[in-house]
Amino acid sequence: MEIKIAVIGLGYVGLPLARLFATKYPVIGFDINEQRISELNDGIDLTLEVEEDLLKSVLKTHNSQLTTNYLHCSNKLEDIADCNYYIVTVPTPVDKHNKPDLTPLYKASETVAKVLKKGDIVIYESTVYPGVTEEECVPVLEKLSGLKFNVDFFAGYSPERINPGDKEHTVDKILKVTAGSTPEIGLKVDALYNSVITAGTHLAPTIRVAEAAKVIENSQRDINIAFVNELAKIFNILDINTQDVLEAAGTKWNFLPFKPGLVGGHCIGVDPYYLAQKAMEAGYHPEIILAGRRMNDSMGEYVASEVVKLMIKKEIVLHKAELLLLGVTFKENCPDVRNTKIVDIVHALKEYGINITIYDPWAKPEEVLHEYGIVTTKIVPTSQFDAVILGVSHDVFNTLDINSLTKSNNVIYDVKGFLTAEVDGRL
Ligand SMILES: NC(=O)c1ccc[n+]([C@@H]2O[C@H](COP(=O)([O-])OP(=O)(O)OC[C@H]3O[C@@H](n4cnc5c(N)ncnc54)[C@H](O)[C@@H]3O)[C@@H](O)[C@H]2O)c1
Repeated sequence: MEIKIAVIGLGYVGLPLARLFATKYPVIGFDINEQRISELNDGIDLTLEVEEDLLKSVLKTHNSQLTTNYLHCSNKLEDIADCNYYIVTVPTPVDKHNKPDLTPLYKASETVAKVLKKGDIVIYESTVYPGVTEEECVPVLEKLSGLKFNVDFFAGYSPERINPGDKEHTVDKILKVTAGSTPEIGLKVDALYNSVITAGTHLAPTIRVAEAAKVIENSQRDINIAFVNELAKIFNILDINTQDVLEAAGTKWNFLPFKPGLVGGHCIGVDPYYLAQKAMEAGYHPEIILAGRRMNDSMGEYVASEVVKLMIKKEIVLHKAELLLLGVTFKENCPDVRNTKIVDIVHALKEYGINITIYDPWAKPEEVLHEYGIVTTKIVPTSQFDAVILGVSHDVFNTLDINSLTKSNNVIYDVKGFLTAEVDGRL
């Protein structure tokens, strides 16, 4: 049987994957965002994950002669009706109480259910807690399609490990975990990914194992970062340079090279809540996972209080002070501002009456304003500031002449330990 793939949800995860599969198979990229669909069919990816030339090389809208392998993006249900593999890559956020919000997954499953046919395989890629695919999504597929799971249609799970903005570890170069709802389907799902992922695949024994593997990868990072954040707080009290300590300890072969910092974004800071929720449903209250979350979520306020202390020591009058914050995205060299913890620094500093200018050449000012009600600029500031905080290590910030941006009595704080200029404080 000829393979035809639908990728449901064309964001940071879905688009690179759809582009990669389109080098070998006919692929329909489906998304509910009409504007995104029209931009993508024009070869424009505003997430900057897929370059224009690469995208255009597989797009049907740019190469009408492509027949056996191509990408066509659409928001029309009929365009995905004749696919036999459906890969779901929609967001899995948490709500304001940090509870998993499975609404996009339910909605995407409803979409797929409307076109589901005998023999089809639905693979989920969204990060979830163990059990979501078979206990939450499959029932939606069964109910709306009237088809029977593991008799008429099948499921798979293959978590994504990409890292937005990372041009080295692209989707094809990262080993991919795969799983299927039966041993035979596991082999099929694995073969599908193996045909395009040059780094290879790891077939997990069950979907629940693959789901659990992904969610612990990010939870492990979260906890390790929380540990070094705690160390940074301790060493700051003891007046010991944390970076120097980590460098010295890092000479041991099995010391893990984690750095203190803000944990934002929609993965590391979110996924542990998914695991915690499932654990609590099963009657186990996670200690370490939630302690890590609390520690990491407190770091924005901590940075602000450290900067304020340094400003007071230098007799800078807070309510008259002008502060330059470099970076607002949740990580370096990418435009993604979702769940950025820089806003915690901003809110805390504003409570002290400090005037803040935020410069980020990557973030879209209208998006930041819409999401957080915070004004940012893409234009290099020209005035002189009482304090500068490096919040995000965008490469471009190391070409800035920080000294020319500061008054003679100033505070420079480097959250990321990134600046080559001399600084007054860092995490
Ligand atoms: N971005 C990452 O670095 C990363 C890495 C690994 C895993 N993940 C996981 O992958 C999943 C997707 O994340 P993302 O960053 O690509 O999200 P995203 O917000 O960038 O993209 C999601 C896309 O899905 C679309 N969408 C939402 N609901 C839809 C629906 N019902 N039908 C069709 N399209 C719909 C949105 O319009 C959007 O374009 C999440 O579970 C995330 O945790 C993300």
